[in-house]
Amino acid sequence: MEFPSDRTAWFRDARFGLFVHWGLYAALGRGEWAMSRECIPWREYDPLLERFTAERYRPAEWAAMARDSGMRYAVLTAKHHEGFCLWDSKACEFNATRSAAKRDVMAEFLDAFRAAGLKVGLYYSLGDWRNPDWIKATHGDAPAEERFVGYTHALVRELVTGYGDLDVLWYDLPQNFTPAAWRSVELNAMVRSHQPQVLINNRALTTEDFATPEQHAEPAEPGRLWEACMTLNDNWGYCPSDTNYKSPREVVRLLAQVASASGNLLLNVGPDATGKIPDESQRILLDVGAWLRTHGEAVYGSQRHRMSWNTWGACTANGNTLYLHLMRYFGDGAITIGALRNDIRAATLLTTGQPLSVDRLDEHRWRFAGLPRETPDPLMPVVRLELDGPPRQDFHWQLGDADHFPVYPA
Ligand code: GLC
Repeated sequence: MEFPSDRTAWFRDARFGLFVHWGLYAALGRGEWAMSRECIPWREYDPLLERFTAERYRPAEWAAMARDSGMRYAVLTAKHHEGFCLWDSKACEFNATRSAAKRDVMAEFLDAFRAAGLKVGLYYSLGDWRNPDWIKATHGDAPAEERFVGYTHALVRELVTGYGDLDVLWYDLPQNFTPAAWRSVELNAMVRSHQPQVLINNRALTTEDFATPEQHAEPAEPGRLWEACMTLNDNWGYCPSDTNYKSPREVVRLLAQVASASGNLLLNVGPDATGKIPDESQRILLDVGAWLRTHGEAVYGSQRHRMSWNTWGACTANGNTLYLHLMRYFGDGAITIGALRNDIRAATLLTTGQPLSVDRLDEHRWRFAGLPRETPDPLMPVVRLELDGPPRQDFHWQLGDADHFPVYPA
């Protein structure tokens, strides 16, 4: 698959990133839409500035947690729909330096994550509840729209000129405007003039670099770079009552699913107003990191390889190596693969390094035996096959053959 340039190389390898939703809403603890859904007036919302203390915010610890969880990049909500800016904005007073935190928490985030060797990105909500021009503009007030779009371009300019190299710019909430109204083409040309390496998502009503399926791990537009963004529990913003967390087992399955279709998983945490990432989120992510330390070669840099017509789960490939992600573990000591048009040089249980025996049952049907009865990894074991070339799987009806196999093309 061809992509525009090397700019995208890191993103094609990365597979796993951290999304951080952090803003004043964290002080309420009912998710990032609480203000809008509960119709909270500004006279009640403004005092949250005093509760946004960031007193336990240690960005180097966030970055270490992300790195130890096997993540390769991180995206922070520089501004969510509430309009609160996490940086020391000149164009917007409603910002973190005027909260109890009194710090540019975004600058600290970028520095810490870069220092930990991770790529960094910023989320920017185009929609804005704070600025009265936004809502006026959505009701057809042309001068308000003009002012608001100018405001948007000024804020984005601050992000792309004041904080060093950004790897991702992640827009959201473009609804109610047209690309022409946003002056999206001009906006992104300005962004790219300052940040030629940046990857821009598809949520400013222009196509740009990558697609962003939300809360599911299927690529919407085959052939395009893509990243699934998902919550770890059911909320993006801090919500302590929401304990509906995905298990580490579910997360590694999601990773296998996105990797098998050349996508990335941007998995979210919602720190509280003191800057603490919930313990449960950290525990889950670090468990996934431990799994990735053994199984990372089956995930990072994997190429699209959807051998979905199988009995165990997902496949990824890297050159002549094929990885079988055993989402279902049968416990009968063996696994059989059909319609594989390669010769197999070696089979290994990647999880333990143990070699597996290889039997050719038919011309294109292979069986690997020697797997333990009990699953060797409670999250998900992986089998590695060394082939004579890039994997090729080809099912077809063998018409006229008494032994034809009744399958459909995968
Ligand atoms: C949804 C949420 C929004 C969140 C976004 C992340 O659109 O409504 O709050 O930031 O997902 O993709």
